[in-house]
Amino acid sequence: MPDPSSPIPVEIPTTQVSCRVNGAEISRTVPVDTPLLAFLRDVLGLTGTKGACLEGECGSCTVLVDGVTVNSCLMLAAQANDRNITTIEGLAVGSELDVIQDSFIETGAAQCGYCTPGLIMSARALLNDQPDISEDELLTAMEGNICRCTGYASIIQAVKRAHRESQSP
Ligand code: FES
Ligand code: FES
Repeated sequence: MPDPSSPIPVEIPTTQVSCRVNGAEISRTVPVDTPLLAFLRDVLGLTGTKGACLEGECGSCTVLVDGVTVNSCLMLAAQANDRNITTIEGLAVGSELDVIQDSFIETGAAQCGYCTPGLIMSARALLNDQPDISEDELLTAMEGNICRCTGYASIIQAVKRAHRESQSP
């Protein structure tokens, strides 16, 4: 006999998510309440995007949706239907890293690395949208990306280097 104090199991309905992720057409059926972060990491195996706070506070889960940064922990996968998603795995072209990735490596700007993909995606979106952005504006616009390890000095150095490199002809 079922225990009357046990919660009644609820079956979560599913939905089909069809979108482009890093240029590849993707279609998967997932529970309707699947966050985009879980869709990317657990369904597609793209574990470069990190989830730290899962509350929209830290920016570690930042990806681009139609070129705009979103906290993928706060967006449902179902909302990604027909959209273009870019994750950290989509930045390199073949074996050539994006200039921002390269700068983070050159300046040793990652310790645990949990914040790194989000920082890089935020910087990439800003440099894409505002190629003439100043160094100070770039750093200010990235204040929503939180790092708990580095004290930011090496991150600032990496962002400044990426800014300089992207301004050079
Ligand atoms: S994990 Fe999404 S903002 Fe922190
Ligand atoms: S390197 Fe660890 S949180 Fe930034």
